Amino acid sequence: MRTDVRPRADGLPEDFVWGCSTAAYQIEGSTGADGRGTSIWDVFSRRPGAVLGGMNGDLACDSYRRWKEDVALLRELGVGAYRFSIAWPRIQSGGSGSPNAAGLDYYRRLADGLLEAGIEPAATLYHWDLPQPLEDAGGWPERDTAYRFADYAGLVLRALGDRITTWFSLNEPWCSSHLGYALGIHAPGRKDRGAAYRAVHHLLLAHGLAVRACRSAAPGARIGIVLNTATPRPATRRPEDRTAASRAADERTALWLDPLYGRGYPERHLAAYPEVSMPIEDGDLATIAEPMDFLGVNYYSEEAVEAAPVGPEHPEGFRVAQSWREKTEMGWDIAPEGLGRQLEHIASTWPVKALYVTENGGAFPDLAGPDGRVRDRDRIEYLRSHIASMAGAASRGVPVRGYFTWSLLDNFEWSHGYSKRFGLVAVDLVTGERRPKDSFWFYRDLVAGFGS
Ligand code: FCB
Repeated sequence: MRTDVRPRADGLPEDFVWGCSTAAYQIEGSTGADGRGTSIWDVFSRRPGAVLGGMNGDLACDSYRRWKEDVALLRELGVGAYRFSIAWPRIQSGGSGSPNAAGLDYYRRLADGLLEAGIEPAATLYHWDLPQPLEDAGGWPERDTAYRFADYAGLVLRALGDRITTWFSLNEPWCSSHLGYALGIHAPGRKDRGAAYRAVHHLLLAHGLAVRACRSAAPGARIGIVLNTATPRPATRRPEDRTAASRAADERTALWLDPLYGRGYPERHLAAYPEVSMPIEDGDLATIAEPMDFLGVNYYSEEAVEAAPVGPEHPEGFRVAQSWREKTEMGWDIAPEGLGRQLEHIASTWPVKALYVTENGGAFPDLAGPDGRVRDRDRIEYLRSHIASMAGAASRGVPVRGYFTWSLLDNFEWSHGYSKRFGLVAVDLVTGERRPKDSFWFYRDLVAGFGS
């Protein structure tokens, strides 16, 4: 027992991993550099009305050029790991064929810089930036996209698996399928529910193939998927609202976890929506259920859901209901207890080996004082309460092994452009200058074991 420092205030084990998350399109910029091809977000963000103010990721946080500053910030923060994503179009500009050496070199340099700083690199293979030529060929609703992803995963793992050992296949595939292909809010901006469900299957198939590629290319590596599971509560006790809430929960949770853990797709979900079907071929369900090393869970909120007339805005027949709770700038309810509840629900329903909270954080107004300091008490309170909720779940036996806050930097928040800020560090959009907010120092204390 060490006596020179106070014991961890949060009750989490000493070897618990603390980290920060980011994603390539949201921070890198340099979208035309070193042979990078075009992604669906480059194209979608130029569609009039798709992104607030017509903003895009051309410059973003300029991290492609300023990554050393980001590593220095992470070192100052004292985190043990950094979750970033690899931009597929930097590795294969058209989504297939031999790799682009300059793209791989960028991530090799980043991984080495992190390792030298004592920070574990944890890479996501797909955080939504599909090479546009693959979308032109049909995108995720097409089976071939899953095979293209498996090739890409294999070549990245062969090139970088010697220095990166923690891998995430896909980030929040629900957003890719449902926001991208059913609701049209994310790239590629299509509104076709049939296509969205074909995308669900091909995303999961892509994940399973990537797990296999990982096992053969980098036997020492560990891999899992990142989901934004959710269990919304019914807005009222009315039967139609209860049905709505359980359908919403299935769409976000069982639709993904059941096949990932070998149970196939939840029949009740598919029965509720006879207009969609899964293009399953022989062997697919076994591929999808290829054992993973861990599951990543992104958690921001827990909402109330109510029944709604089926129509273009809510094709599933439900919508988020009015609630009394305080909200973040995203309009999302602040519900810290929901994080622990979500982790316990997952651990008690599916045989997960280990869990990571791979994203959690809040967008807040972040007004700087006259001294330039951002006193973001609201973000500190958000983080503190969510981490306490997670620690509670851990103390009740949930195998949660790490926590990554979203995000290190204020960045390109998809259809909201730069208007929603999640960073521990503010970024001047013109100069690129980085400035830690108060939450940065809060998180540094917490990581060091002196938090809460
Ligand atoms: C998640 C995304 C991440 C970020 C946060 C706020 O859904 O994975 O890229 O935009 O939301």
